[in-house]
Amino acid sequence: MLHLSNLKDRSLIEPEDFTLEEMESLFSLAEKIEKDEKYLRDSCKGRLLATLFFEPSTRTRLSFEAAMLRLGGSFLGFADPGSSSASKGESLADTIRMAASYADIIVMRNPKEGSALLASRYSSVPVINAGDGGHHHPTQTLTDLLTIKRLLGKIDTLTVGFCGDLKFGRTVHSLAEALSRYNKIKMVFISPKELVLPDYIKLNLQKQNVNFEEKENMEQSMPELDVLYMTRVQRERFFNEDDYIRLKDTYVLNSEKMSSAKNNMIVLHPLPRVNEISVEIDNDSRAAYFKQAKYGMYVRMALLASVLGVVC
Ligand code: NCD
Repeated sequence: MLHLSNLKDRSLIEPEDFTLEEMESLFSLAEKIEKDEKYLRDSCKGRLLATLFFEPSTRTRLSFEAAMLRLGGSFLGFADPGSSSASKGESLADTIRMAASYADIIVMRNPKEGSALLASRYSSVPVINAGDGGHHHPTQTLTDLLTIKRLLGKIDTLTVGFCGDLKFGRTVHSLAEALSRYNKIKMVFISPKELVLPDYIKLNLQKQNVNFEEKENMEQSMPELDVLYMTRVQRERFFNEDDYIRLKDTYVLNSEKMSSAKNNMIVLHPLPRVNEISVEIDNDSRAAYFKQAKYGMYVRMALLASVLGVVC
């Protein structure tokens, strides 16, 4: 498969670190694994993944660990920074140097923006960013793009709506950056004024002549969307609890709103969901967020196998 050998020993900090062709090759490999679950089984035997999670996670950590186990490898790490030496004041640089001496690849989530890049500079093994504060989350983007491709058959020419906390939502930042490389994409950013997309992302989109608009109203945009990407208001990133309480339920996707959407629109959400998607939507055939979580495991298997150099 084209380009996969290029990914050997490479870190992934934000989506731009991989070319569009490299991402597409990962999707092809993930689809191959999905169709034949025996494919690549045991290919990572004897390899160790370190999962260093300084922030809570369910899907990202478990899907990486499941991916490594399914490839025949093993993992070690922590899910609670309180149980690591970070709680004794150890620097990130030192923690990373240690982990790199035990494992062949590191997956890290950390509340500080820029921490993944810093980690990659101190690590002698590849570092995969599983979320650095409100900055980026590139493997969620691989998950999101694979889901769109599998369910809608293409990514080019789609109109994608992002709704909720676009300021702190790192999954939004990474997906918008990655989508801007596809042809004739339109993006609609729906948020309250206080939670609009950061300027650095907007500037990047403008530089690439991406067609995008910002709105406060969700209902008006529903009929034109091919993909609706819902997000949670990120309580942990607010400085002020009152602001969180005021903004948390600005958008709630319910059956009434879905009635004006296209029949083949898909609803994505990186999860966890709080109130922003009513549970009545879970049975709507357009709700794709649980399938999306499963695609995340396949694409992470493809990523681990490629970075560890067991596919060429
Ligand atoms: C997201 C994250 O951690 O950024 N979740 C995930 O990785 N699946 C979104 C969120 O926490 O709201």
